[in-house]
Amino acid sequence: MEENRKITSTSSLEMVAVENLDAIRLNLLQLANKAAALAYAPYSNFRVGAAVILEDGQTFWANNQENICFPVGVCAERILLGYTHANFPDLKPEILLITAKTPDNSSSDTVTPCGLCRQSISEYERKFNSPIEILMNRPDGTLLRAYGIQNLLPFQFDDLNK
Ligand code: THU
Repeated sequence: MEENRKITSTSSLEMVAVENLDAIRLNLLQLANKAAALAYAPYSNFRVGAAVILEDGQTFWANNQENICFPVGVCAERILLGYTHANFPDLKPEILLITAKTPDNSSSDTVTPCGLCRQSISEYERKFNSPIEILMNRPDGTLLRAYGIQNLLPFQFDDLNK
């Protein structure tokens, strides 16, 4: 029998040490950390902060907002990208950094965007036709960097006519 043809996708993430971050990215890390500390996460206790820089250099941040009806809660990334796109629909988000705090708020926890947030990031990349750099903070003094959502969401749904 003939073998099925394979369609492959390669994803790659880069590991970056905090001490190697430039001023722009270090500032995003600080903003995201502050946002994480203010997260409203009484049910999961998992506090997430996200910070973004738009193409004109403006920075914004947000955090997760939970609800007693659990599915109503919204992740930090979608709150942030929804807000910036609502207010600055013509400005491309350049770099998105996310971080999370342990339940006692004392140190960082590992976080990567959930599936819904990956889909949301892919929407804004498509709108601006340009990849977003996604930085994911980790507790060991490094961050994971994805140049474009393709590295986190291969084979994405991006065409209603497919
Ligand atoms: N959460 C985020 O805000 N962003 C992510 O990328 C992962 C998950 C939130 C959702 C929920 O409030 C809590 O973290 C636990 O899942």
